[in-house]
Amino acid sequence: MLTRRQFNRHLLTLTGAALAAPAAGLAGSALCPFGKLRAPRAKDEGWAQEPEAGEPPLRCFPRLVNTERLWETLQGLSRFSAPGEGTTRVGFSPEDLAGHNWLMERFRREGLEVSIDAAANLRARRAGQRDDLPALWFGSHIDTVPHGGNFDGCVGSLGALEVIRLMNENTVRTQRPLELVIFSNEEGVHYGRGLFGSRALAGLLEPGELEEVDDEGVSLAEWIRRYGGDPERIPEMTPAEGSLHAYVELHIEQGGRLWQGRIPLGIVEGIVGILRYRVTLEGFANHAGTTPMDQRRDALVAASRIILAVREIVTAEPGRQVGTVGQMRVEPGAPNIIPERAVFPVELRDLSMEKLDRLAEQIRERAAHLAAEEKVSFLMEPVSRHEPALTHPQIRHRMQQAAGEMRASVLTMASGAGHDAQAMAKLCPVGMIFVPSRDGISHAPGEYSRPEEVACGAELLYHTLLRLDQIERFN
Ligand code: GLV
Ligand code: MN
Ligand code: MN
Repeated sequence: MLTRRQFNRHLLTLTGAALAAPAAGLAGSALCPFGKLRAPRAKDEGWAQEPEAGEPPLRCFPRLVNTERLWETLQGLSRFSAPGEGTTRVGFSPEDLAGHNWLMERFRREGLEVSIDAAANLRARRAGQRDDLPALWFGSHIDTVPHGGNFDGCVGSLGALEVIRLMNENTVRTQRPLELVIFSNEEGVHYGRGLFGSRALAGLLEPGELEEVDDEGVSLAEWIRRYGGDPERIPEMTPAEGSLHAYVELHIEQGGRLWQGRIPLGIVEGIVGILRYRVTLEGFANHAGTTPMDQRRDALVAASRIILAVREIVTAEPGRQVGTVGQMRVEPGAPNIIPERAVFPVELRDLSMEKLDRLAEQIRERAAHLAAEEKVSFLMEPVSRHEPALTHPQIRHRMQQAAGEMRASVLTMASGAGHDAQAMAKLCPVGMIFVPSRDGISHAPGEYSRPEEVACGAELLYHTLLRLDQIERFN
């Protein structure tokens, strides 16, 4: 979640001239609450670094995908960013809206039937030979974390566009309709909960979620309207059972296994579950010079002890579970005042939800004890709960076959990052393809994947979709 100051900063940078590319058919002024905005500036550095000496050699060469075209489109999208290092295109922000509009126009140029659904997901449909069959879905997201990269989500979104371009070029007509989707607010930086668009589709929103307001006092429902969505109709949007054939997502790995193993493609077996809590500690603000050390009720000292306890508890047993405190709000927030209030998230991830619940209880117990020792009040509230999801074996099998034909080696692996495919698993069989992330870096300005490997991922997506189109029913 952005702090008030960070989010204000984004909005302040965006006053001035009109948006670069308002969607054709949707008036820019109707979409944009701020009236005239300055066009997001082209980034002049940072996102597309040159290959470094000593990098592992490429192990996959695309045969069909137009690598240059795909790379240029990625570069085009990178322009939509708030200033600063890396890419900042936070979900439900002017930059993200401008990016959606720019992409919408590209979908239209490929002859897709474009719409914005009730939850502000960008949808683009390509007719099949038989429109009565359940559609085959694919896509990803284009929102980013603050000062992240232009690859997380973007590779899958623009890889999906490249697939459509290939089909158009080669006059491929699938049996089923294709539904390309760009999910809204996947990162959940704004409003604190991830996978917004896919959860809305799958009927997994939390009660009251749409009425929540951000630090500017703007409700989530209002942001959805600014994109052309219709929050009142979200409850009706969940598709009828069996009306989706499958959902496939191409994504960067965001870890280092493919890069270190010099393997060009990953096939995802399962996606971790994610538990998020918000901890609020309240002590007493007083003068930092006159209050003796033994008479303080310092919320930040208590928070620090709790952060260390999170690490201790999460690492106390074997397994791949991880725990993170990635943010801290301290009030009043001055060098000469004892911190009265500390608010921070605790996030836990693992493939087993039972393990996460157990760890969360241990953290709660220990944190309550530490807070009492520091004489501060303690509240630990659940914020979100994303269940782990397994991908469908038949989809993995088709991916394996397709990768074999591409003569590319693959690694079957778990995903430590959350993905929209997780929520989509509530609706239909899902599958995911990974491409390597250089040095395993993601959610940081150094996030990077090589053009050829991005293209190989798109090529595997293309072949996978054609194969899944032929499956009559999953078993
Ligand atoms: C999204 O990238 C997440 O895993 O938080
Ligand atoms: Mn992502
Ligand atoms: Mn991400």
